[in-house]
Amino acid sequence: MEVESSEESLTYWLTAEELEAIPTAEYWNDQEREKQKEWAIESESDLKAIHYVRHQTNLEDSLLEAVNWVRDELGISLKGTGLDLAAGTCWASGLLLSRTPLGKALAVDISVHRLDIIAPMVLHQYGIEEKRVERIVGSFSTLKLPDESVDHVYMVQAYHHADSPAALIREAARVLKPGGVIIASGEHPITEEDIFRKRNRNWVKSIATLPVASSIASAMLGRKLSPPRKRFATAWDDLRSTDPLKGDREYTLEEAEHIFTSAGLTFHPQTVAAPDDDRMVKSEVNLIGVKNG
Ligand SMILES: C[S@@+](CC[C@H](N)C(=O)[O-])C[C@H]1O[C@@H](n2cnc3c(N)ncnc32)[C@H](O)[C@@H]1O
Repeated sequence: MEVESSEESLTYWLTAEELEAIPTAEYWNDQEREKQKEWAIESESDLKAIHYVRHQTNLEDSLLEAVNWVRDELGISLKGTGLDLAAGTCWASGLLLSRTPLGKALAVDISVHRLDIIAPMVLHQYGIEEKRVERIVGSFSTLKLPDESVDHVYMVQAYHHADSPAALIREAARVLKPGGVIIASGEHPITEEDIFRKRNRNWVKSIATLPVASSIASAMLGRKLSPPRKRFATAWDDLRSTDPLKGDREYTLEEAEHIFTSAGLTFHPQTVAAPDDDRMVKSEVNLIGVKNG
């Protein structure tokens, strides 16, 4: 994995060894693979990254919906210093710095080339000077920031990538000043029904691999089948499909609520308005937490 960067414009919270030890770091630092992504850009004149979040998906609208709701319903406008977790190309910081009174941002990610090469181009496309965004190679689960040091925290398509969502939100709440908000946008929690359906599917699969079922099948087929490999009982964790490459996790809204409230936050889930055109729905729900002052 290529994790070196000669750029002095980045801040490093992690050594190369610490970065390599993060299981998903190899995927997020694979520059060749990233070039295949539909939003990949190589020059500032290429607007594909912005086009992706604005016109191909509902990501930009969804984040703005959360920010506007927080302003209109809670009377909190984003200003001061924002913390952009799993910032990637830093488009969310570009958007919020250009559309809210936010003064500056700290952008944390484990993808060196996204922060180093792509983010400056995207920030310029939003009309934002690079110096307003400190780009930090670091893990969002261990923030090297003092308690109550940032005004607001936002993250897009990030919460479901956390190894431990509870640790992520605890850390975010720790560094957040009282009166600040945490917005996790680009989320799609599953429902109890999804879990129930999946559990039933797993039971059917499990039954088909029971010894008795497999010996009946062997007799009928007239040949010996390989021994059953699956357990009959389905462990709870088996129901949560995770993508080991990218670290995706499934969770319910109730679990998110528990995580936010356990971190001392007031929880406000927001169902995102469905786009009235054919954009991909990359964001169904915004998870919003407020640290009461
Ligand atoms: C789906 S992308 C979203 C990026 C960006 N927020 C956006 O919406 O385009 C997930 C991001 O999470 C980052 N990431 C994954 N694990 C991380 C960790 N432990 N700490 C910080 N960033 C992480 C990846 O490098 C990647 O940029």
